[in-house]
Amino acid sequence: MPEFSQSARRMRTSEIRDLMKHAANPALVSFAGGMPNNELFPTDDIDEVYASLPIELKRQGFQYGPTAGFPPLLDELGTYLRAKGLPVDSNKLIVTTGSLQAINVTAKVFVDPDDVVLTEYPTFIGAAAAFQSYQANAVGTPMDADGVVPEELERAYREHPNAKFLYLTPYFHNPAGVLYSAERKAFVKEFVAKNDILLLEDDPYGELYFHDEDVPLTVPLKADPEIEGKIAYVGSFSKILGPGMRLGWALVPPDIYPKYELAKQSLDACSSTFTQVLASEFLRQGKLPGYLARLREVYHRRMRAMLDAMNETMPEEASWVEPRGGFYVWIELPERVDALDVLKTSIENGAVFVVGKAFDPKGERNNCLRLAYSHTPEDRLADGVRIVADAIKRAL
Ligand SMILES: Cc1ncc(COP(=O)(O)O)c(C=O)c1O
Repeated sequence: MPEFSQSARRMRTSEIRDLMKHAANPALVSFAGGMPNNELFPTDDIDEVYASLPIELKRQGFQYGPTAGFPPLLDELGTYLRAKGLPVDSNKLIVTTGSLQAINVTAKVFVDPDDVVLTEYPTFIGAAAAFQSYQANAVGTPMDADGVVPEELERAYREHPNAKFLYLTPYFHNPAGVLYSAERKAFVKEFVAKNDILLLEDDPYGELYFHDEDVPLTVPLKADPEIEGKIAYVGSFSKILGPGMRLGWALVPPDIYPKYELAKQSLDACSSTFTQVLASEFLRQGKLPGYLARLREVYHRRMRAMLDAMNETMPEEASWVEPRGGFYVWIELPERVDALDVLKTSIENGAVFVVGKAFDPKGERNNCLRLAYSHTPEDRLADGVRIVADAIKRAL
């Protein structure tokens, strides 16, 4: 056998992944999966959409398509993103195989071994793994309830002035559950404007707000004409239609777009035409707004049930920010507590979640846990929370 490449040698498997095998056990209450519950998928809508397609379009769905995306989907996505205020006409849109591919491609086109990428701490595990696969040094800067902490980001940038890009998820963060405040967005804007750095703005959850008054805060930074030229914006159908579609997108400045297209070409030539046909018709037939309204209501209700149970059962040493949208609650425990101990007890007693160190780019800090309410049946939320709370009390 040949020797593994340097990047393969750096890939981390982990005890977390082994423990996560339990997550599939239906007897456990699972707060682990960052995904919708199967019952929520719009199967009837998609049945209708497919049945309505002319045979030529059905056939096209089985065919290869352009690397940039199935043209009717690019049109529909353009309309959808324009309505969010995004500068679709002065930028270039590319359909990707999930937004994780858009994140991966961003790393592929910018990162050389040992380059620094600035992220939040905590950060999305898939993004950190993508950065590390190109041997990036991913440096996590702490967040608080309003987003990334300004002094911490300034300090990290002073230490790493050649950082290639800054990766942020400002709208219902995974795993922190945080929505950036207006002040914090203003800080990020100023930071991007004054520094020579690209912002990779990741927005898979922004539509899943629970309070209409938050809508202005979910307007992407990429919508701001003063900084849009320094932002690669990525989004996804995974949380608003279904992760099995494997469809995301990147909206990027035209000067960097050609490299995105070339990088994607070598990865998979094109994303699934079949699901692109379905997604473009789902949008064209106007089915998204009604479906989103339903998702917001269901996730809001689940979050409330979860938070009520947490308020009743969690010890005072546990703290969290109440989510205003999205899928996740991030629980912080005293630094001396190892979330892996909490997880082991919790699994023995019937509930599973993801430990904090999965979301630390360095895989070290482990006094936090992520509970997702997106996938857990409503009638099992309270029981599951009680099991986790008891496990935390034992670990304190
Ligand atoms: C913050 C964030 N970004 C990106 C993704 C990637 O999603 P996908 O590749 O399914 O579009 C996820 C999925 O969980 C996520 O939480």
